[in-house]
Amino acid sequence: MTVAPVHEAVTTLRKLALAAGQAAALRAAAQLGVADALGDEPATAAQLATAVNAEPGTLDRLLRALTTHGVFAAQGERYVHTATSRLLRTDTPRSLRDMVLWATEPWTWSVWPQLADAVRTGKGVFAEVHGKDFFTYLYEDAPDSAEVFNRAMTQASRLSSQSIAEALDIRGPVTVVDVAGGHGDLLTTILGEDSEVRGVLFDLPGALDDVDPRLREGGLFGDRASLVTGDCREAVPVAADVFILKNVLEWDDESTVATLRNVAGAAGPGGRVVVIENLVDGSPETGFTTTMDLLLLLNVNGRKHLRQSLLRLVAEAGLVVTDVHPVGPYLHMIDCAVPERP
Ligand SMILES: C[S@@+](CC[C@H](N)C(=O)[O-])C[C@H]1O[C@@H](n2cnc3c(N)ncnc32)[C@H](O)[C@@H]1O
Repeated sequence: MTVAPVHEAVTTLRKLALAAGQAAALRAAAQLGVADALGDEPATAAQLATAVNAEPGTLDRLLRALTTHGVFAAQGERYVHTATSRLLRTDTPRSLRDMVLWATEPWTWSVWPQLADAVRTGKGVFAEVHGKDFFTYLYEDAPDSAEVFNRAMTQASRLSSQSIAEALDIRGPVTVVDVAGGHGDLLTTILGEDSEVRGVLFDLPGALDDVDPRLREGGLFGDRASLVTGDCREAVPVAADVFILKNVLEWDDESTVATLRNVAGAAGPGGRVVVIENLVDGSPETGFTTTMDLLLLLNVNGRKHLRQSLLRLVAEAGLVVTDVHPVGPYLHMIDCAVPERP
């Protein structure tokens, strides 16, 4: 064994062991609003500290730590933006600031330490730590966190909604329902593609409280959109031609199959059901999907699926897969049909 690989291994492990600190540094920068305070001109930590109400010396240390990961860059004693740090700004259309806040919310720090237990038992830990399931906790006990969660989902959706709407190619006088569609970013994009298409947004009441105003009465799509609240594991009481489930089937297998069966029942024979997911073995972002897979284990006793594990559940729910193909940079679209009755 030579010295260099050992040194590399030591460096890798030391860096990984402190990765929580990197997430915390990102969160701190997002909370302080440093990216918004830094414009196109280079600025010193002292100048930025005045703008964000921080202590200049410690802000300098925070920024130095972030620059080692390409978040901001140092030019002598001054800092400038990088493509990555610009995503922390609130005024950029591709902002991921809420995504960063969501991935580092206080509840995440309360469940990560239980990972060994979850791996031993094969079960999530959220209810044990917080006394109730994740979404009940979010909407009942942590409204600010719920708001961050839904904004983060919208930010993530914006990365792919246009490509998904184009790939779905829903045209003419048909009705589409986005099941567990969050604030409605994908649905508004689909409705924007064809003025004949009607849309239904279905989600838990807490999610629809702050729905995209364009879907409300008087909004741009208000006359073609309706909002329905409910639990998709219990029933999906909506009549539609196309049912979409994007980044929903990430909880326990039982909930996934129950939801798919409810959707298949609502769609009826010949109906179209489209599942859209990041697949662990079909994503260019392996680091993201595999870590998210572990977080989903902890919070909803769920997972990011492998292609085969998801297709197995789709089949178990009685749907027939007609096509599987990549959509957008990170996702796969699984087009299914409800079989005609024998
Ligand atoms: C990961 S988010 C995905 C949101 C949206 N489909 C997207 O891709 O941006 C999961 C969504 O499922 C909703 N949800 C969770 N449990 C639900 C349930 N039992 N019934 C209906 N919606 C649920 C959440 O409120 C949230 O909007």
